[in-house]
Amino acid sequence: MKIINSSATLQEFVAYQHQHQLRVGFIPTMGALHEGHLELIRQSIQSGNQVHICSIFVNPKQFNDAKDLEKYPRPIEADIQKLESVGCSVLFLPDYEQIYPENWQRFPFQFANLDTTMEGLHRTGHFEGVAQVVYRLLQICTPDQIFMGQKDFQQVAIVRSLMKQAHLEQKIELVRVPTVRELDGLAMSSRNIRLSAEGRKRAVFISKTLFWLQANYKNLTPNEAQNQSKTQLQAQGLDEIDYLEIIDAFSLQPVEKWEDALSVVVCVVVRIDGVRLLDNVILY
Ligand code: PAJ
Repeated sequence: MKIINSSATLQEFVAYQHQHQLRVGFIPTMGALHEGHLELIRQSIQSGNQVHICSIFVNPKQFNDAKDLEKYPRPIEADIQKLESVGCSVLFLPDYEQIYPENWQRFPFQFANLDTTMEGLHRTGHFEGVAQVVYRLLQICTPDQIFMGQKDFQQVAIVRSLMKQAHLEQKIELVRVPTVRELDGLAMSSRNIRLSAEGRKRAVFISKTLFWLQANYKNLTPNEAQNQSKTQLQAQGLDEIDYLEIIDAFSLQPVEKWEDALSVVVCVVVRIDGVRLLDNVILY
């Protein structure tokens, strides 16, 4: 696996691949890689790309909490080994100046209401930071496909919208990859290791509740579904619920009647041991 630190070098590298008709898949990450991240690379391989570029960049602009940024794990040697083991071709490992050079200018994205609910409401400025870095990475990397996890459902919607606004959707395909879970159903996350043994046991009830809803929502109204899911979480001692929303998959706005939406997702964030655990399932 090649390790490239410079944006200009990566741009030249990708241009050369494209001249030789090779297809490039791109997987943006912040490192501390686990099976969820590696699945995105496997999907790039299975989708018929010949070159797979993973970026690791802990983007300060998307952290609204300086401590969270400082505490973000950076196990780079282990990450390199994992990427090599799945067959990643290039690791793009830029420093801050490579992503935000002095002449860098933000793109004035407007997300209508995609960024005012859920994570947007609980983490001010987060999606502005995500959008700017993903746009910059796409400019540097110019891939044919970008792979992102369904686990961050709202993030995928933001990236879809930014690609539309920047007229990239014709050139680059956004592929959403299903959430990879631990054996007991907990969505994999770099944050899971911060849970206590007792907290880790209780965390299973997040996905259990989502799967229960997936099986039972048809007998309930969206409002009942929301209330009963929250009650189930609380009954297991999971009472720090940042939100549990039943939303239209396209507008991300709450659904009042099932017939109103073509596709509906339930998104939840629960805090356990002070760790924010995020999950969602698509109901239909
Ligand atoms: P990060 O949290 O490192 O996640 C990188 C990618 O891995 C995202 O697309 C995320 O949705 C995906 N991912 C995480 N856990 C997953 C799981 N259990 N199953 C499947 N995919 C999973 O998301 C970011 O970084 C950043 O915001 C980024 C897009 C890189 C911009 O800085």
